[in-house]
Amino acid sequence: MSGKYFLATFGCQMNVYDSNLIGGMLEKKGMQATGEAGEADVLIVNTCSIRGGAEDRAYARIAAMRHYKRRNPDVRIAVIGCMAQNHGEKIPVELDHVDYVVGPDNYRELEEMIFKDRPKTPAILTEQNAFENYDGIMAKLDSAVTCHITIMRGCNKRCTYCIVPTVRGVERSREASSIVEEVERAVSEGVKEVCLLGQTVNSYRTEGDDFASLLRKLNRIDGLKRIRFTSPHPRHFDSNAIRAMAESEKVCNHVHIPVQSGSNAMLKKMRRQYTRERFLEIVRELRAEIPNVGLTTDIITGFVGESEADYLETLSLVEEVGFDSAFMFQYSPREGTPAFAEGETLTAAEKQERHERLVQLQMGITERNLDAMAGRVEEILIENRSSRDRNEWIGKTGCCKKVIVPDAPGLGKGSLVSARILTRSGLVLRGESIIA
Ligand code: SAH
Ligand code: SF4
Ligand code: F3S
Repeated sequence: MSGKYFLATFGCQMNVYDSNLIGGMLEKKGMQATGEAGEADVLIVNTCSIRGGAEDRAYARIAAMRHYKRRNPDVRIAVIGCMAQNHGEKIPVELDHVDYVVGPDNYRELEEMIFKDRPKTPAILTEQNAFENYDGIMAKLDSAVTCHITIMRGCNKRCTYCIVPTVRGVERSREASSIVEEVERAVSEGVKEVCLLGQTVNSYRTEGDDFASLLRKLNRIDGLKRIRFTSPHPRHFDSNAIRAMAESEKVCNHVHIPVQSGSNAMLKKMRRQYTRERFLEIVRELRAEIPNVGLTTDIITGFVGESEADYLETLSLVEEVGFDSAFMFQYSPREGTPAFAEGETLTAAEKQERHERLVQLQMGITERNLDAMAGRVEEILIENRSSRDRNEWIGKTGCCKKVIVPDAPGLGKGSLVSARILTRSGLVLRGESIIA
């Protein structure tokens, strides 16, 4: 098949990377990407199962694609990713215009099938493969300046609320040499910043390397300016990794470290493998070793059995750490997870109320931390022109704050400049570049 493909991606950055892998595979065989679903020969929806809402959105999007098929029966529709793995053959029962249902370990087979005749009945490819890490396939680049690269797939944790280990399978790490090669290629195409991805990215391990040694290897790549990663698991944040971060000048001073709850009882029930005290110790060590480190997190409110006292422990942890920002979620029971059978102990209204109080608290801290940056001089990497004002650029600090600066001679996508932070406007900072 030559022709055009359209890809819609839901879920986390690992899905974004997988979509880029598939884009890379299809384009190598002569297909072209299109942003117009109506002109595509193949429509692909990469889905997420993390919460009920994510699945609802994916179902609605796939259902809305039915009319393309009515208009042109030769159009092919593929549902891929975590929800494809999770729901498998149930998907084409409900959505009978779907041709392929493909889990995260089966994208090579999807590519083969797309270049063969259309299957008469929906093809379900959801066999898990503990060795598939797509080594040797070059993913498309996200942008000219930054890119995401998956360094490990799957997850060996069993957090009791989480569907990821079921849909993504067991943990496996890519060879460091293959990661280095992919980063070098991205840099040769102009990329300045890479973000390494994995569900527990800091448990990365191969025969010869661990997360710390990988950071040190990547730090030596000429032309690469910045290294980020997400998401590390507190259980694997040892001093060795913190030292490697501190000693590798390209590794940004930002850590997204999901805490989930501030209550030891909840952490235990979630099977997170650390306590509140251990988490706070990691935070102290990060702050001691990495100057002005930006800290962000994920938090779940309303997990099974969460009492008001447990919830207040989360609020107090949030205050104590003073995260720069947080992704905050209401617990969503997922069939197939250990906690599912326990049902829920809070009403939707109670969960909502706890969520809102937390969001309020975090918002105040986020703004306070941004305000505190006024007057500082920060290095920013310019990513894009501002969509509101073409005479302004948007960049990010190492600690992951957005900064808007006015246009100036020599500024452009990919420039690394010093900027003086002046004020906060909403959740972005305004500054001026200082050109030496
Ligand atoms: N591997 C990462 C998280 C991946 S999922 C880690 O462990 O840090 C992203 C976030 O979704 C999680 O950190 C958690 O906060 C949230 N999440 C996962 N399952 C959820 C559920 N069933 N209900 C609500 N939020 C959930
Ligand atoms: Fe889910 Fe826990 Fe694995 Fe993160 S570490 S993906 S929350 S099971
Ligand atoms: Fe969703 Fe799968 Fe990522 S469930 S959060 S897309 S790993």
